[in-house]
Amino acid sequence: MPLLITNGRILTATDDYSADVFCAGETITRIEKGIDPKSCPPGTEVIDASGKYVFPGFIDPHVHVYLPFMGTYAKDDWESASRAALLGGTTTLIEMICPGKSDEPMAAFETWLGKAQGKSACDFTFHMGVTRFDDLAEKQFRDIVKRGIRSFKVFLAYKGALGVDDRELYHTLKLAKELGVVVTAHCENETLVAERQSELLAAGKTAPEFHEPSRPVQVEADGVHHLMTFAELTGAEVYVVHTSCDEAVREAASAVLRGVKAHIEVVLPHLVVDHSYTQKPGFEGAKFVMSPPLRDKGQLPKMWDHLARRTVATVATDHAPFDFESQKTMGKDAFTKIPNGIPSVENRVDLLYTHGVTTGKIDLHTFVDAASTQAARIFGLKGKGSIAVGADADIVIYDPTYRGKISAPGKSHHHMATDYSAFEGWELKGRSDTVTVRGKVMVRGGKFAGGGGDAHGRLVPRV
Ligand code: URP
Ligand code: ZN
Ligand code: ZN
Repeated sequence: MPLLITNGRILTATDDYSADVFCAGETITRIEKGIDPKSCPPGTEVIDASGKYVFPGFIDPHVHVYLPFMGTYAKDDWESASRAALLGGTTTLIEMICPGKSDEPMAAFETWLGKAQGKSACDFTFHMGVTRFDDLAEKQFRDIVKRGIRSFKVFLAYKGALGVDDRELYHTLKLAKELGVVVTAHCENETLVAERQSELLAAGKTAPEFHEPSRPVQVEADGVHHLMTFAELTGAEVYVVHTSCDEAVREAASAVLRGVKAHIEVVLPHLVVDHSYTQKPGFEGAKFVMSPPLRDKGQLPKMWDHLARRTVATVATDHAPFDFESQKTMGKDAFTKIPNGIPSVENRVDLLYTHGVTTGKIDLHTFVDAASTQAARIFGLKGKGSIAVGADADIVIYDPTYRGKISAPGKSHHHMATDYSAFEGWELKGRSDTVTVRGKVMVRGGKFAGGGGDAHGRLVPRV
């Protein structure tokens, strides 16, 4: 159905103005002041956005939905994850395909694609995980890129599981350079992590709070430095996922200064929660175990500053949803067995707005740029990341006057499949009132409007 959004304040990465937006089918076709509804086709739905922002649909460039990891599986499926994403204003997700080392890449791609297609309510694409690089795998990576998956993911962590060695890293980057695809990378020195984990456990330091000292900032900064050396030698374009500390950002930024094509991501948890959360009593701290770990609280203002200065390009979530009762507790006797990850796909936009924009840490343009536009630009998401004639009609009508709280699972503000929210009780100063994906209203008045099992989402073409 055609859609006319009137009286809104259009906010993009670069512009701020008042106008009406008309969407015919899946595309924005007119942006003008005072569009007369009578000039629109019969049956046009008119939505009054007075007092609200009109943002481009937000993009989360780093999520895990189907994730076999640390001896278990993440809880969400695409139905729950995409619904939660949309309620939180995110209209496109980029998921990491994480095959085991002995899995064939093409089979993994088909598996991950099959989980999303016909299930997802929001649009989606993937970063192809390279967990093994040999001749057979290389041929499949070339075919996967031809299928439109124009980014890879490597782990310089998780020794013996997902991590690649230096030979594999070198050849992955060479292939990426040849094919013109971006390589996203989890950067930590896996040997240092493994050694420090053993030392801590041997000393009886088994609680969640010892996750951070097992992989301190130097371990992450070293991983980033390592990636940058390889990127410099191969000329590949790289994207450092979930930088958690000033030390890691500085390593990437100094490589950029010497000409390395590198982009830097921060994820929501590293902006709003710190290491003290893992010290909560009664094993509650396990809810906050992720990698790289939550850092000392002195790091948070530095990360906001890197974001405000645009050294950090994007804000993602690294949504990795594991239950507390049945999964996080696998690490009761050893923090190394706590499945890593903090569920947050639903909360990114609202917490970034509440803790970033309303406090003045970032302005509205930075907010849109980091949560939408840069991800579209870096990963070549055709039609996404802007409000413009010809763009996909992915629109978030955002209510800055909304006041509410993130609830416990099963209540109004928790639609992820996990049995806990890391942010339960946190205040929200704004929310997505109406959300469209390619012209279809998926959220209305803050409620999901897509219907049960609505599989409107599709694989985003990449350019
Ligand atoms: O803790 C995390 N980050 N879990 C998901 C896997 C990864 O490293 O991205
Ligand atoms: Zn990671
Ligand atoms: Zn991740």
